[in-house]
Amino acid sequence: MSRQYNIALIPGDGIGPEVIREAVRVLKHIEKRDDRFSFAFREFPWGCDFYLRHGKMMDDDGMEILKDYDAILLGAIGSPEVPDHISLRNLLLRIRHDFDEYVNLRPIKLLEGAPTPLKDARREEIDMIFVRENSEGEYAGSGAWLYPNSPQEVVIQNGVFSRKGCERIIRYAYELARKKKRSLTSVSKGNALNYSMVFWDQIFAELGKEYPDVETHSLLVDAAAMFMVKDPARFGVVVTSNLFGDILTDLGAAITGGMGIAAGANLNPEKTFPSMFEPIHGSAPDIAGKGIADPIASIWAVSQMMDFFGYEDWGEKILRAIEDVLKEKQSLTPDLCGSASTEECTEAICRLL
Ligand code: IPM
Ligand code: MN
Repeated sequence: MSRQYNIALIPGDGIGPEVIREAVRVLKHIEKRDDRFSFAFREFPWGCDFYLRHGKMMDDDGMEILKDYDAILLGAIGSPEVPDHISLRNLLLRIRHDFDEYVNLRPIKLLEGAPTPLKDARREEIDMIFVRENSEGEYAGSGAWLYPNSPQEVVIQNGVFSRKGCERIIRYAYELARKKKRSLTSVSKGNALNYSMVFWDQIFAELGKEYPDVETHSLLVDAAAMFMVKDPARFGVVVTSNLFGDILTDLGAAITGGMGIAAGANLNPEKTFPSMFEPIHGSAPDIAGKGIADPIASIWAVSQMMDFFGYEDWGEKILRAIEDVLKEKQSLTPDLCGSASTEECTEAICRLL
């Protein structure tokens, strides 16, 4: 019996549509080669152009419609014509939050053939999985803007750390570390953030008692940034808060081939709501429409989606094909010093699959 997966596509802005087209190409390629599953796609025109025409980032019943999909593939959101805090909060961050996609899983893995600025780093030495808290922290939207445009003007941006929110993300990371037989590093900042991060550290230690088999480490975020460059081999699974995870995974992308290939999964592990898969790069308006955007990040996101659906064999095969295209070097886009188009790169990946 073949299972049909309903996939909502939100190509979004800039290069988003160009890379989502390639993600779909790969999915159509693999569905022909496996009779366990098939895909049905529906595309939604939401994003900044939609906002400029309708004054909102998505339809009023958008979340209601998305709720019934098995997964969402998102390209990129953001345009110079719409303030980022409006476009992102009302679409990307809204989906992450309202669908309780509290796990942001970001592999930071140096594939063979991918360039790294870290001199002497061997491929096996850069292989981490970031588990970024994705529903609260500094992204909760809690705060105030008092006495605007006056000499007393004050802004307050709260970091929200609930017991439930911290426990579930840290537990997810412990389970992952156990399953993958990797160490677990918690990244926090208790020396300066005397409420949120002391609480985080305490929960990390508490839950650790249930996982005596998992080797653990705790690092301050500034030290973690330093070690990611100087000694990346020390990291296996890493768990951290929303903002720290955001920053460190861009650093992670930089040491593993760049933003053109880094992917992320926004997971609702309970599957109460759809999970969302995306390249972690932005809309790159400077290269939009030129057909040279790197499709690898969105294809890697497809690999993560296949893992999440339970077809880890395909997740693995897609990743191997990405690695093969990187090794071959014949079909890479300009961000990786190649001269191939977005489509040529994808075609090479499909051929290698
Ligand atoms: C990311 C992005 C987003 C984030 C932005 C676009 C709001 O940088 O997915 O890493 O901060 O989470
Ligand atoms: Mn980011």
